[in-house]
Amino acid sequence: MSTAPAGVADVIALDGPGGSGKGTVASRLASALGWHLLDSGALYRVVGLIALRSGLDLGDAESLAAIARNARIELKRAPAVDSAPSSIVVFVDDIDETDAIRRAEVEQPASRVAAVPAVREALLPTQQAFRNPPGLVADGRDMGTVVFPDARLKIFLTASADARARRRLRQLKDRRTSGSLRAPSGSEREQIAMPADAELAAIRASTEVRDERDRSRPVSPLLAAPDAVTIDSTEMSIDDVMAAVMALVRERGLGR
Ligand code: DC
Repeated sequence: MSTAPAGVADVIALDGPGGSGKGTVASRLASALGWHLLDSGALYRVVGLIALRSGLDLGDAESLAAIARNARIELKRAPAVDSAPSSIVVFVDDIDETDAIRRAEVEQPASRVAAVPAVREALLPTQQAFRNPPGLVADGRDMGTVVFPDARLKIFLTASADARARRRLRQLKDRRTSGSLRAPSGSEREQIAMPADAELAAIRASTEVRDERDRSRPVSPLLAAPDAVTIDSTEMSIDDVMAAVMALVRERGLGR
């Protein structure tokens, strides 16, 4: 187990693929401990969103890194909702982009910009600045391997591709029925018109493309740290996962 340098707040790193439940677990854990929360995926989504809106070539690493360096991104906590992937509200240059970064068409650009080393480098200090007392729960793909290698507890949360696609479908449905503030985008309207099986297959296919890119990129790939505890949530409820995580938290003497 690593120990944080004296005077530096403890970190719990939660890494894993989308749909593993890590966003929900991270927000619940941060609330339970009274710690700060970093949803690092939101930062990559913001860069993907800005690139998409400005019609930028996703191969233009320098311009993408400039976006990552210059965008004024604020992540604010909101009450946790179990079906939502994250309990944070995202402001970019004072505009609320929370819904926009979660749109289906932002997923692939976000994953593509996340594979650009200069973007990752530019976002590193932004992420590390979240480390403040009394502690930080950091949710992402490389929290335990690259951003906070000295995290006191590293958890790699995973689940089968099927289970993850089902959860993602449920999140989309919940968003549609919760009277989400916005109208569905073009690609979401196409998905809504699909029969449920076809929709699940489409989500699974898109998730697999994204996961494969996240896993195989040369820089900071989605990978369990050697000292991470892996939890497979395929057959577990969020409450089961939380119980397992809280047991590890207590075992390491973390939190209050
Ligand atoms: O967790 P998410 O779906 O919001 O992440 C959006 C994208 O950013 C996804 O393709 C993975 C990538 N990402 C990353 O490369 N490193 C992180 N620490 C967090 C997310």
